[in-house]
Amino acid sequence: MEAIRVCDLHKSYGDVHVLRGIELEIPRAECVILLGANGCGKSTLIRCLNGLAQPDRGVVDIDGVDIAGIRGRHLRSVRRRIGVVFQHFNLVPNVSVFQNVLYGALGGQPGGLLRTLPAIAPAELRDRAMACLDRVGLADRAGQDCRQLSGGQQQRVAIARTLLQDPDVLLADEPVASLDPRAGRAVMELLLDIVRERGMTVLCSLHQLELASEYGDRVVGMKAGRIELDAPRANVSRDVMGGLYQGVVRVDDAPVAEGPLPVTRSA
Ligand SMILES: Nc1ncnc2c1ncn2[C@@H]1O[C@H](COP(=O)(O)OP(=O)(O)O)[C@@H](O)[C@H]1O
Ligand SMILES: [Mg+2]
Repeated sequence: MEAIRVCDLHKSYGDVHVLRGIELEIPRAECVILLGANGCGKSTLIRCLNGLAQPDRGVVDIDGVDIAGIRGRHLRSVRRRIGVVFQHFNLVPNVSVFQNVLYGALGGQPGGLLRTLPAIAPAELRDRAMACLDRVGLADRAGQDCRQLSGGQQQRVAIARTLLQDPDVLLADEPVASLDPRAGRAVMELLLDIVRERGMTVLCSLHQLELASEYGDRVVGMKAGRIELDAPRANVSRDVMGGLYQGVVRVDDAPVAEGPLPVTRSA
């Protein structure tokens, strides 16, 4: 079964038709890079996949469960299996690096918030949190405030937090867009090593074509709210990727086109 299956997904904000019939299937343990210029709809697609945005139409299945059709406890239990890494890290200021990682266990077990206080978190949970920090190379920073860390280090803390959650599916929304190229590459490499170790299914958006040509199994390219490219990375040339940046790329610049556009696919 596919880990992620999206059919005929549409989403508008006001009169901007952001997602225009997205079709996407990702088998378990595949790592897909979602490439596209700013404003083409990547973040909106990712928000629909983790239930943060409600589709206007279409199906969003995670492991065979249509997340648009569930609420409450059932939705929370599906979302627990979806890890999210954001461009701006979304760490909590004024608490330690260690505590930020512990938040990865929130919702993971009964008594969530309380159990993630370092003083009363069970030893087993604290040990696992420390092991996650160690995996990202930051065990020695456990007691610091996140704001003392560099951007690359902060994103590694966010990755450790996701590791503690131990999701089956990882959605990363431009995880390296706020980092300089060197730190960005280091974070991409760490992230991809970890997802491979754990066999996670990944959808990771990027807007830089240089990175998309280096990472992941498959490239899915978006332009103005549609998928224009879907092929194994090895089969996609830079020129083809470059096409995603030509012409009208933003959804708010593009009038709503009728009917589907041809998608460049190759086996
Ligand atoms: N919450 C929102 N409210 C209104 N418009 C939105 C919202 N989210 C996205 N949009 C519209 O969709 C466009 C594409 O947004 P987004 O999905 O963030 O693209 P990307 O992540 O590829 O840059 C935005 O430029 C904006 O016009
Ligand atoms: Mg975005």
